[in-house]
Amino acid sequence: MEDYEVRLVKVAVYGASGYVGGELLRILLSHSSVEITAATSKRFSGMPVHKVHPNLRKVCQMSFVEPKVENVANAEVVFTALPHGQSTHVVKTLLDRGLKVIDLGADFRLKDPSAYEKWYGFKHPYPELLEKAVYGLPELHRDEIRTASLIAVPGCMASASILALVPPVKNGLVDRSQIFIDAKIGSSGAGSSPTLEGYHPERYNVVRPYKPAGHRHVAEIVQEVSNAAGGGIVIGFSPHSVNIVRGILVTVHARPSGRLPSFPDLWRCYRQAYDKEPFIRLVRDPTMVHGLPDPKYLMGSNFADIGFEIDADSNRVILFAAIDNLVKGAAGNAVQCFNIIFGFDEKEGLTFPGLHPA
Ligand SMILES: NC(=O)c1ccc[n+]([C@@H]2O[C@H](COP(=O)([O-])OP(=O)(O)OC[C@H]3O[C@@H](n4cnc5c(N)ncnc54)[C@H](OP(=O)(O)O)[C@@H]3O)[C@@H](O)[C@H]2O)c1
Repeated sequence: MEDYEVRLVKVAVYGASGYVGGELLRILLSHSSVEITAATSKRFSGMPVHKVHPNLRKVCQMSFVEPKVENVANAEVVFTALPHGQSTHVVKTLLDRGLKVIDLGADFRLKDPSAYEKWYGFKHPYPELLEKAVYGLPELHRDEIRTASLIAVPGCMASASILALVPPVKNGLVDRSQIFIDAKIGSSGAGSSPTLEGYHPERYNVVRPYKPAGHRHVAEIVQEVSNAAGGGIVIGFSPHSVNIVRGILVTVHARPSGRLPSFPDLWRCYRQAYDKEPFIRLVRDPTMVHGLPDPKYLMGSNFADIGFEIDADSNRVILFAAIDNLVKGAAGNAVQCFNIIFGFDEKEGLTFPGLHPA
């Protein structure tokens, strides 16, 4: 029998002590074609990874190293998972050294450099890289991802919103200027740094609106829905913190563009868009208790569940999308992009189906 040498791609995780970094490690550790060369953290440098990510005890033998470019430079690909505004210089240096970068923050998602001043309050130092970056949503940009050296992984609530919206908007089923998104998100969406809003007595049991107007994810939702489905998109977006740790549910309320679409109209447009997608599931079965998307059953999984309802009384189309914010909303989606770049099975490392009951 011949011996086949398995090609392992060397990857590093920059910002590995955070929630997204932890999910990247969890997923990459189960990937058959990956060798993790470094996991960085300033706060926990020198400490075993499992002291911060207890689920990785006996799974990961690594210790954190200082977040320095030299510590990750022997990898082929670096996943950067830093707070927004912190990735720009690191990413530029890594690209200059010939590495590929999959960035999970917001620093390369927007194409218009001036949008960074408006939405993020800083002048982008490398506008030329915004041109080069590919928005890492495989369902919209698979071909560009294949040859990209810089991937900008979408924001979590943006991913869910875009996946729900693009097919019906593209098919002219909803009025592009009458789209209102109500999003619900769990506490891990805010990252692992302690804050007053996230402090247990303040956060527990909330159904708390936050940033009900002007949320930053509007910028990328409008950018991507416009790219895919044409201009004139106006989005009202209002997120709420709810009492879960993982998960996002977006509920989109939209007016029809003409006559109210039928159920077959919506089925058809979603089927056409997503039938071949490995991680999109259509969930609409009014006879079942799990008949519409619910993030509870997506914990740890890379699926995005999409559903819809039609309300003739209020002349309204209602669209739903549920994801795990840390998986399809961040680390899982990033690994899906990685698989596409390297020609691996898109599902490699991402087969965990979630739990039931959860
Ligand atoms: N949480 C989500 O659901 C989610 C979903 C999609 C996208 N994102 C985005 O992903 C990124 C990471 O999110 P997160 O939730 O994992 O945040 P987090 O839990 O706060 O983790 C942040 C990580 O960045 C490191 N870090 C902070 N400042 C740094 C700097 N200047 N240089 C090097 N490392 C630095 C931290 O490491 P040390 O402090 O230990 O050094 C930590 O590992 C953010 O941009 C976030 O918006 C998050």
